Amino acid sequence: MNGRLSDAWLEELKSRVSLEEVVSEYVPLKQKGRRFWGCCPFHNEKTPSFSVDSEAQMYYCFGCHKGGTVINFVMDMERMEFMEAVRLLADRAHMALPEREAQPGQTSADREARERMYEANRAAARYYHELLFTEEGAAALNYLYGRGLNDSDIRRFGLGASPKGWDGLFSHLKARGFEADLLEKAGLVVRRDNRTLDMFHGRVMFPIINAQGRVVGFGGRAMGEAQPKYLNTAKTPIFDKRQGLYGLNFVKKERSAGRLVLVEGYMDTVSLRKYGVQSVVATLGTALTEEQARLMKRYAPEVWISYDGDAAGQKAALRALDILDAQAMPAKVIDYPEGMDPDEFIRARGLAGFEALPRHDSTTYRMIRAKDGLDLGGQEGMTQYALRCCAILKNVNSPIDMENHLRRLVNETGYDREILLRQIGMSPRTAQQPAARRHAPVERTATGVEKAERELISMLAAGLIPPELLKEEDFADETHRRLIQWLLSGKSAGAYVEGIAEESERQKIMQALNYTPLPTEREKALEEAEECLRTIQQDRDSQRSAQIKEQINSASPEQKAEMYRRMAAMWKDNED
Ligand code: UTP
Ligand code: MN
Repeated sequence: MNGRLSDAWLEELKSRVSLEEVVSEYVPLKQKGRRFWGCCPFHNEKTPSFSVDSEAQMYYCFGCHKGGTVINFVMDMERMEFMEAVRLLADRAHMALPEREAQPGQTSADREARERMYEANRAAARYYHELLFTEEGAAALNYLYGRGLNDSDIRRFGLGASPKGWDGLFSHLKARGFEADLLEKAGLVVRRDNRTLDMFHGRVMFPIINAQGRVVGFGGRAMGEAQPKYLNTAKTPIFDKRQGLYGLNFVKKERSAGRLVLVEGYMDTVSLRKYGVQSVVATLGTALTEEQARLMKRYAPEVWISYDGDAAGQKAALRALDILDAQAMPAKVIDYPEGMDPDEFIRARGLAGFEALPRHDSTTYRMIRAKDGLDLGGQEGMTQYALRCCAILKNVNSPIDMENHLRRLVNETGYDREILLRQIGMSPRTAQQPAARRHAPVERTATGVEKAERELISMLAAGLIPPELLKEEDFADETHRRLIQWLLSGKSAGAYVEGIAEESERQKIMQALNYTPLPTEREKALEEAEECLRTIQQDRDSQRSAQIKEQINSASPEQKAEMYRRMAAMWKDNED
């Protein structure tokens, strides 16, 4: 699960870094017994419910249930993948990564070349930025002023100008020791015949900075009618426009936004941010990709698609919804007035205007778009509209959502509810049953059995009760059972939690590992354990007897007669 790193190596790493020390760099902590307490960095709170267990070397928030080991903490705080977090911690602990695992499929020479490419890109960004404030950059600077930006905006986004000549950047970087070969691989220059030429000429430059704060590429906008309007860095070992997002470097510091705003263009990102919209990102000259959708999931629980209010933008928004749906990323769509893009809109109407814009859930938005190109004044158009909407509604799972959309559709089209339901492919009866009971609410009150299971797990993990006391089969809950199986095999809770990618599953595990209050003495713990096991047994007995009752009640007279015959036979056997 953790790639090719051995458990022993990971344990060694974790023993060399102190969790409370790492956490303290983000959250002030106060010690109380074996736990350190602070305000949770993952949700908003005023009184501390976030704790670090210094013995177990795990953190847990009693408010939002996030938790894990130091590796999970770095992954969550720094939005890193598992291996990225491990690399960062290994650096900190002065521990060498097993060479083969340092970067799968890469030699250390490749790694060095990548490092050089980052440096070259940074140097290029600085060069472009400085050029903006010289005579050569005057046109670009005026262009940016003309688009409503001031010097401070320009500095914040590191905007720049590429020189009009053929090799201004190349000679600048060559003089600083960068080889033509490397610059070509980094997409900064192109080589033709025997000449080396800059990639970007006379354009306004937008440096693309990744989440780690490194310049990985550029978007360059033409100032006149030159084509293409935007030129982007080609695919390089450190840049792939299908994988990254513009503006991600800012998002990392904005933990509380709760949603990402996804726009189409560089200028839209800059402009919305200038007016105070947080967590705005843009794709990089492609339609939204699956990789980008997955990337966004690491930053926020929801995306607001904020594409241009023209036909192209609306089409692109529908495609983006499909991509996000496929990744189970909830999305809303912001509807801009006819033909406006986010940049134009916010410059005209400001932040308040932006916040007042309608945001449609995905089904509503699809239904709105279903009207496109239809004449709803006539019967034919209305029929088409109803058919399109019914096709859209086939994918709605939540009965309440379904009901709301259905009511609207009845109102709009005048068709009977029953007719629409049949078109959707549901019998009117099933539509009213809570069909989606599978999607039970996550936050329900824990039953006695759940609590008992958690308490047992926590006592076992804290070493308060002996493992012999518990059996895997005692646990009804699947998650609890897998965890118990792991713990009973003598392995650490931390190693288990690290392997859990699914956030809600991890929270559930952390909750089970942090039951409170726990007894402090072993004798008391044994009594508690007995009590818990009794609760579990009683629940099982009552379920069994309910089952039997149900069987008897639903049996036909013949089946009942058969049951009694078998019972009588059993008794007779016993007497023999
Ligand atoms: P738009 O054509 O909508 O441009 O392209 P824009 O963002 O509104 O730009 P301004 O306001 O005219 O300056 C949206 C995005 O599509 C990509 C760019 O990333 C751009 O920001 N694009 C567009 C290209 O990559 N190449 C192009 O030639 C055009
Ligand atoms: Mn625009």
